[in-house]
Amino acid sequence: MGQGVRLPVINGLGRTDRRDGWLGQPFVMAIALVALMVYTGWRLLVMDGDIHYDDHRVTSPIFSPDVLHLSGLTDYPGWLNSAILILWLPFGFRGTCYYMRRVYYRSFFASPVACWVDEPDINKKIGYAGERRLFIFNNLHRYFLYAAIAILLFKWWDVIHSLHIGHGFILDVGSIVLATESFLLTMYVTSCHAFRHLVGGALDRWNGGLSSLRGRLFALVSSPRLNQSHGFWFWTSLGFVFVGDLFVMAVANGTIPEASIVLIGGV
Ligand code: FES
Repeated sequence: MGQGVRLPVINGLGRTDRRDGWLGQPFVMAIALVALMVYTGWRLLVMDGDIHYDDHRVTSPIFSPDVLHLSGLTDYPGWLNSAILILWLPFGFRGTCYYMRRVYYRSFFASPVACWVDEPDINKKIGYAGERRLFIFNNLHRYFLYAAIAILLFKWWDVIHSLHIGHGFILDVGSIVLATESFLLTMYVTSCHAFRHLVGGALDRWNGGLSSLRGRLFALVSSPRLNQSHGFWFWTSLGFVFVGDLFVMAVANGTIPEASIVLIGGV
């Protein structure tokens, strides 16, 4: 067994020899995550109107898939909405994401805040238990991936649905917003480490037939544009959920007009 190597980190929370702005990124990320969580709580529990316009042609990404509308149910408690029913799936997927673990370990637990920066003494006492004890639920990530793929299909269905109006075709800013959100989410899901394992990483070798195809898929998912940029896709896809929600809410309550770019056929 190898011996643990003691690195010459200066002891004491936040103490370090680093001279760069190591606190900036985790600090901004913490603010962003708290702000998005507060906004989501406000939207779900307080302000859950104006979630679609044009009679459900365009639906807010936070409330999609709008399972209550799709089910045809009309008799349900006034406090209930589709986001309350389905958001635990994207929350579970993002909350157990390997990149997200890095973010919350740094931003919320200071464990450590950055490389070569010391962590609080309590963290040293508790120790790192990885995916055991409190964080055992992180093992569910691969299962949340299947749910995220299903949600992704609904998102693209939303885009196609938004292009139909009456017996005609419409392309408006709402469709472009939904398509952008779906594209970013597609990049986030297909750059996931568990997805990489699913498409080819689970195999020992890729030689011949289906396995060589899976090898090529593995290389594609591992590329700089996908897996190596997973953090970029995490933030852009997350941010655009809220851009989309604000846009749909603003059109639905009349703050900004609905702007069609192409309209073919009758309404
Ligand atoms: Fe981030 Fe799977 S590792 S979504």
